[in-house]
Amino acid sequence: MKPGHSLMKHYLQFKDLRTEEYAYLFERTRIIKRRFKNYERYQPLADRTLAMIFEKASTRTRVSFEAGMYQMGGSVVHLTTGDSQLGRAEPIEDSARVISRMVDLVMIRTFEQSKLEAFAAHSRVPVINGLTNEYHPCQILADIFTFIEHRGAIAGKVVAWVGDGNNMAATWLQAAHILGFTLHVSTPRGYEIDAQQVGDAASCLKTFKSPAAACEGAHLVTTDVWTSMGFEAENAARQAAFADWCVDAQMMQLARPDALFMHCLPAHRGEEVAAEVIDGPQSVVWDEAENRMHVQKALMEYLLLGRIG
Ligand code: CP
Ligand code: NVA
Repeated sequence: MKPGHSLMKHYLQFKDLRTEEYAYLFERTRIIKRRFKNYERYQPLADRTLAMIFEKASTRTRVSFEAGMYQMGGSVVHLTTGDSQLGRAEPIEDSARVISRMVDLVMIRTFEQSKLEAFAAHSRVPVINGLTNEYHPCQILADIFTFIEHRGAIAGKVVAWVGDGNNMAATWLQAAHILGFTLHVSTPRGYEIDAQQVGDAASCLKTFKSPAAACEGAHLVTTDVWTSMGFEAENAARQAAFADWCVDAQMMQLARPDALFMHCLPAHRGEEVAAEVIDGPQSVVWDEAENRMHVQKALMEYLLLGRIG
């Protein structure tokens, strides 16, 4: 932490930041991304270290945090369950006490949100959620920045979620509540967003039996894998249950003519999305993936240095 920057914040859920903090972060992201594109050196995190703890696989989250931290002048330590004492049942609280004495910031990808919260409760430094079973806030941060880049403000817009009521869906709902848009959701029966996660965001949520109906009039259509990490044992049942929840060209035609398509990736063409959609002109999935790095650089700057200027 910067000396004098005493209000330590964690980023465990999307609702951990306020509407005006998001406005600030999106503006910082725009500036930080522009500098990167212009090959301008910007290293405010020199001598800072980020520990990244992965209990699940990753491509984008690892590369975006690691490259982003190096670009800002800092260093990273990469830990996985298999190569650390986390895999040998060292209590998460003890791991948090130790790791947070040696680094400035921690990013964790794990299973239960409660595990992330236990780590944060015993950490001396800010903790970032790099995906849990319940939430994936860094991804939604990137997705909304991507929407703003392409279409301007998201307030008042309609986002259609087609598929599993999973960590991504629950995070979209938190974002809808904070940033003032409507989330249309269509899931197969039994795969709805958990009622506890809906909570006071219910006013932003409209549910639809038919995925096509959820897409009608949407400014953005988005989906995710049918089987998230940690749920592999349910794969066969999910393949059957989700067969009609594939975002195809017909669904995209029901959305607004200028609707975007997003997917956090990795994707399975022919399952949750047709190849013609994800590889088609409305898809912004590669911008979404790249923007993970830019938004997370702004987030790390904010958590470590507070507001700039
Ligand atoms: N979207 C996302 O978080 O990707 P990874 O699993 O590759 O990190
Ligand atoms: N819902 C997916 C997202 C992967 C980035 C999962 O949790 O596996």
